[in-house]
Amino acid sequence: MVFTVDRELQSLPPEIAAKLSHLLKNLPSDAREPIVNHHFISKSFFEALGFLSNECIPDFKTGNGGDAVDYALRKNTEDDSFLHTKTSPYILVELKGRDINLEYGKGSYKTTVRQLKRYFLAPKCKSVQWGIITNSKHIQLFRKHGKTIFPATPCLEINPDNIVEITYQIRKKIEDTSRALTVAVYNNKGGVGKTTTVINLAATLTRQKKKVLVIDFDPNQHDLTDSLDIQPGEYKFYNCLKDKQNLFDIKQAICPYTKTFKGGITLSFDIIPVDDQLAKIGEDQIRQEISPHSLRKKLESLKYEYDYILIDAPPNWRYYSISAIYAADVVLIPIKPNDINSLRNTAITIQQYIPEIQQSRQEKTQGLEWGAIALPIFFNGGNITDAVKVRVKNAIAKIINQAKLENNFDLTSYFFSRYIPGKNTSIFEMPNSAYIANSAFDSIPASYRYKVAYDYYSQLAKEYFIQ
Ligand SMILES: Nc1ncnc2c1ncn2[C@@H]1O[C@H](COP(=O)(O)OP(=O)(O)OP(=O)(O)O)[C@@H](O)[C@H]1O
Ligand SMILES: [Mg+2]
Repeated sequence: MVFTVDRELQSLPPEIAAKLSHLLKNLPSDAREPIVNHHFISKSFFEALGFLSNECIPDFKTGNGGDAVDYALRKNTEDDSFLHTKTSPYILVELKGRDINLEYGKGSYKTTVRQLKRYFLAPKCKSVQWGIITNSKHIQLFRKHGKTIFPATPCLEINPDNIVEITYQIRKKIEDTSRALTVAVYNNKGGVGKTTTVINLAATLTRQKKKVLVIDFDPNQHDLTDSLDIQPGEYKFYNCLKDKQNLFDIKQAICPYTKTFKGGITLSFDIIPVDDQLAKIGEDQIRQEISPHSLRKKLESLKYEYDYILIDAPPNWRYYSISAIYAADVVLIPIKPNDINSLRNTAITIQQYIPEIQQSRQEKTQGLEWGAIALPIFFNGGNITDAVKVRVKNAIAKIINQAKLENNFDLTSYFFSRYIPGKNTSIFEMPNSAYIANSAFDSIPASYRYKVAYDYYSQLAKEYFIQ
């Protein structure tokens, strides 16, 4: 469902802004949920977000048992009134009173986020793109793309002085929803299957009718470009990244990768390959010439054209991987299960490297963007016997305890994909497959050629991306 929105809106209309700030100012400091709802949220906040009262359904049944989210919002269209059909919700709002502390990291904050995530994935919420949690003291916006959920803003403290600007910024984000999810595939360990994952995930998603762009951002090795036998065109991505005046159109750097199969079926995805200029430029020179924020900026115009933008990052923590993660919404981390050191490296990536990038995204956006988050790790291609599983589980338990004790950082949900408190269960496993390994020399993704490989990567796509 497509909605018409006012992209020209420069600020909230003055009378709406004044009312929003006034009502927040008059809320009692101990206002419980019904008061926050009746005297602020339903009276003014939804209007400020651009919704009419008949576009907001209270206690919306999510289709998951008796679960009901406090509000579901969606604009009416000419022939479809949301209140009437109750279909295709667009935003979910989980509301709390001021007695519930929604400050980032607090127990009640974590519980509320988990609650929102459960609603997001419920049967009647497939169409949902955004979620908000607020108690009128704090507010946070979350994005949902397919099955993938990530914070779109930090958890922001609100008051009568900043509520107008914050609501306006949230409104701008929800009225300008990008089509693409940008995924950086990264591990600072080499040879864990990053490039193989990018290629086969791209191919699998195209078989599921998704439009995909792949970026080879490992210019020293350019394995992705080579293994698919891509010949970069005249136009150099290097020039585009370097261009501060936007004279170069990034689309010119894109090469299509197309395969036609028996029966005339054609499948394709797009690639930005490594060009000879990028391949030969050194780390020092690129740091001087091109900001690590450039990739994100250049991808901006493509976010409305693709469903997925997948970035293949190199195995180190230097310019290209920093740029890739700065550009991403989420980071997918393959791991070799029989390598305990790579588990420790991963903990460092999640606790230190990714938060560094989040910090710089927040600084660059005046605190309005959170920055990429790590998705739960997955085991790629190792021989996962029961003995290995036990060893790995013990090693992970040790790493999680250490992170908690030393840095007060909870790594649990980054290691276990279906994490529910008290039941930290499984880690997704991509099997070791000769079909996958051998395809590296065939210049065709295994998941285009072999059903078994397609099935494996479909499971991966289902685990992380497809609802
Ligand atoms: N699921 C799998 N089953 C079998 N072989 C695999 C699988 N995934 C990756 N491989 C093989 O593992 C090797 C390393 O994979 P790949 O080049 O994708 O790793 P990488 O992390 O990108 O490496 P680098 O760090 O050098 O960029 C390749 O030979 C690839 O074919
Ligand atoms: Mg690689």
